[in-house]
Amino acid sequence: MTPQELENGILELKKERNAVILAHYYQESPIQDLADFVGDSLELSRKAASTDADVIVFCGVHFMAETAKILNPQKPVLLPDLLAGCSLSEGCPPPAFKKFREEHPDHLAITYINCSAEVKALSDIICTSSNAEKIVSQIPKDQPILFSPDKNLGAYINKKTGRNMLLWNGSCIVHETFSERKLISLQLEHPDAELIAHPECEDHILARAKFIGSTSALLKYVQSSPHSKFIVGTEYGIVHQMIKSTKGKTFLPLPPEENCSCNECPHMKRNTLEKLYLCMKNMDPQIAMSMELLERARKPIERMLAMS
Ligand code: 13P
Ligand code: SF4
Repeated sequence: MTPQELENGILELKKERNAVILAHYYQESPIQDLADFVGDSLELSRKAASTDADVIVFCGVHFMAETAKILNPQKPVLLPDLLAGCSLSEGCPPPAFKKFREEHPDHLAITYINCSAEVKALSDIICTSSNAEKIVSQIPKDQPILFSPDKNLGAYINKKTGRNMLLWNGSCIVHETFSERKLISLQLEHPDAELIAHPECEDHILARAKFIGSTSALLKYVQSSPHSKFIVGTEYGIVHQMIKSTKGKTFLPLPPEENCSCNECPHMKRNTLEKLYLCMKNMDPQIAMSMELLERARKPIERMLAMS
């Protein structure tokens, strides 16, 4: 099938099944253009919680689709490629996380949404990059906290809030790849460009950023900033929306250390138009999990939604 035939087929199936297509900013551009809603992980969770569609088609990674299922246990949630994982989630296996909690019984566990349903179920409160600071700030100062699984986001929130949360040693394969050396030479070449960065980046990159925020916050920043040139310190997929929603602005990718396309998330890019079409046609693959796990994982997500 040609890309046009695939697009037409997806739109027909969407009507036929009364489906909603939710997509993250890191999806390839044709998927973003077809989606009913494109957003960051908090906005996508909110959309999943409030949709009245019969079927949720989630174009993102597994933990995001899993969150949509937890919030809609009775609805089918489709993910074009079930193998679309996340290095943060994979780096935090439930048995090791359980042990981490048991070693610190007096600590509250605030866990980044980039983790498995089982790890969510073992946590007290979930957060995303856009509400982490707000959530941590609501916890009494004398309450010790475990923050998992992203040590970079955790260190950034420690700095912003003056806390000393104990951090799980995990990181994102995309955001840890950016090169400070190449950033400096890019800034010398483009002294008028502002660096904007996602808090999953390492501290030496964040220290040079003019603005730090979630994918949606970065997008809003470039839309309202009087500046016209930006170095983008996150997965490059978001630039599609930045170009679409601004006029005459320039977006330079923050280069990785190696000569590779490591600033693209290989998990996010597993989803293609063809896989999207096929999953909607076959109603497969779907997210499946036990009711018991689903119930346990929902509580800390609901706490997050209430606190943000
Ligand atoms: P956002 O919460 O900003 O969408 O980030 C999700 C993510 O996976 C970043 O790598
Ligand atoms: Fe996970 Fe990093 Fe990909 Fe985001 S960019 S989904 S944190 S691997």
